[in-house]
Amino acid sequence: MRRSRIVSVGSYLPPRVVTNDDLSELMDTSDEWIRQRSGIQERRWVDEDTSTTDLGLEAANRALDAAGMDASDIDMIFFATLSPDHEFPGNACFLQAKMGLGGIAAIDVRQQCTGFVYAVSMADAMIRAGNGDTALVVGGEVHSKGLDVSTEGRDVTVLFGDGAGAVVMQATDVTDPATDPHVMSTHLHADGTFAEALWLPAPGMAYDRFMGHEHVDKGLHYPQMDGRTVFVNAVKRMPEAVEEALTHNNVTSDDVDLFVFHQANMRIIEAASQRLGAPADKVVNTIERTANTTAATLPICLDEAVKTGRLEEGMLVAAAAFGSGFTWGSMLVRW
Ligand code: ACO
Repeated sequence: MRRSRIVSVGSYLPPRVVTNDDLSELMDTSDEWIRQRSGIQERRWVDEDTSTTDLGLEAANRALDAAGMDASDIDMIFFATLSPDHEFPGNACFLQAKMGLGGIAAIDVRQQCTGFVYAVSMADAMIRAGNGDTALVVGGEVHSKGLDVSTEGRDVTVLFGDGAGAVVMQATDVTDPATDPHVMSTHLHADGTFAEALWLPAPGMAYDRFMGHEHVDKGLHYPQMDGRTVFVNAVKRMPEAVEEALTHNNVTSDDVDLFVFHQANMRIIEAASQRLGAPADKVVNTIERTANTTAATLPICLDEAVKTGRLEEGMLVAAAAFGSGFTWGSMLVRW
């Protein structure tokens, strides 16, 4: 049975640490408020010369090193991001050029916090279909350059950080689906009626001009969020997507060795864990140190779990994400 498996993972965080106290020098906020509401203690911000594909390149190279592979082994690149280097072309093209891989397929996935799950799902489908044997799937974000660092933007700005993660996926011949390492399933969802509950309104073709001074004057180039609506839906949708994966594969929460949830907010992660009966020692989190890195959060967590010895071959991993769109989804992986 032709399936795909995740053969390696890598991640990269820019070196500059920005603590909650650093933010309180820029805006009216406090370490206490941020920790209490989100669990975040610090995040990383890039320097002015670093772009999202720079972060993605580092993560990709680390994933390739971990696999003992060369860039030339890759047949297709997926880049999940909401913060591309440029409006077009997409980040996958820029990364492909930086990696010297001209000619192979380069696909951008613009599904925000759920982007990595969507990208893994697409890579899995393409590998199964025989479009190629090896895929590089990157999730990367530079949020810091696009955030409102004044008090007006504090509700959103304190929650986000920069970073990237990547996995290498490869075709594999599965003979025993219960034990052989492979992507067992992915489940994807969206509800566009919530599009404006978490979005970046401008620039855009919905206006009379793509970009105008009035957009900047109104702050429409900063992300806008209805925090409560995001919270309520995230705590419902992530566990729902994991339950869907467990039912589909005829396994239970107890069979799962490691749960990885999108790192939006510690309170959301705790509520999702509780609903699934996932004990804390089976849940991997990086949010205290990374904040929300959107499409990069899942591969960053997976990399941390491998590096700290919490994730080993043969383990069953349930991962779920939720974000702008709204989009949400899950993947169940025999590692
Ligand atoms: N520092 C200090 N005060 C702040 C800050 C801040 N950074 N941000 C907002 N406030 C103030 C508000 O102005 C408001 O003040 P007011 O009551 O005087 O009007 C007050 O704090 C709001 O406080 P609460 O209502 O207690 O806030 P709440 O408990 O709802 O927490 C939060 C807000 C953290 C945004 C919460 O709604 C949440 O976690 N939502 C989910 C958002 C999320 O995770 N987004 C990530 C992106 S989406 C994703 O990845 C899934």
